[in-house]
Amino acid sequence: MSILEVLHFPDERLRIKALPVEKINADIKKITSDMLETMYDENGIGLAATQVNIQKRIVVIDLSEEKTEPLILINPEITKLEGKETMREGCLSVPDYYDTVERAENIVFNYKTLEDELVTLEIDGLLAVCVQHEIDHLDGKLFIDYLSPLKRQRLKKKLEKLEKLDNKIL
Ligand code: NI
Repeated sequence: MSILEVLHFPDERLRIKALPVEKINADIKKITSDMLETMYDENGIGLAATQVNIQKRIVVIDLSEEKTEPLILINPEITKLEGKETMREGCLSVPDYYDTVERAENIVFNYKTLEDELVTLEIDGLLAVCVQHEIDHLDGKLFIDYLSPLKRQRLKKKLEKLEKLDNKIL
């Protein structure tokens, strides 16, 4: 396994729409284990392949405290959205920034497991928010896209400044 580099906003590669996985093979399994290792290393609860510059529809999530319950979603697809819920969100691709986003409260979605089984789940709460956030990544969308343009512009300037400082240190 290896730790992958996570892209940060405003990197344009975060805007690329990911393509469906056609065959679950050794390469796909390797990608998912690298993604899990990267997510755990960064202390995230979810990671989409788009964030590590892989344009495939793969998501990993683990909401457990002990990081022992990985959920691997291949080609996840939401089929039903219901209700409204607001939650404070963050993202490994938008470091040190949190804001409130409104999303559906309940969703029905399906995905394939690494064993090529099709699973359909009805979920709510944090998991439902997380799945919506990660599927957005696969479509080139970030949680900050839901904020006002002014807020997003300020954030972009701040992050660009930070990136420059980082570069100087290196
Ligand atoms: Ni994210």
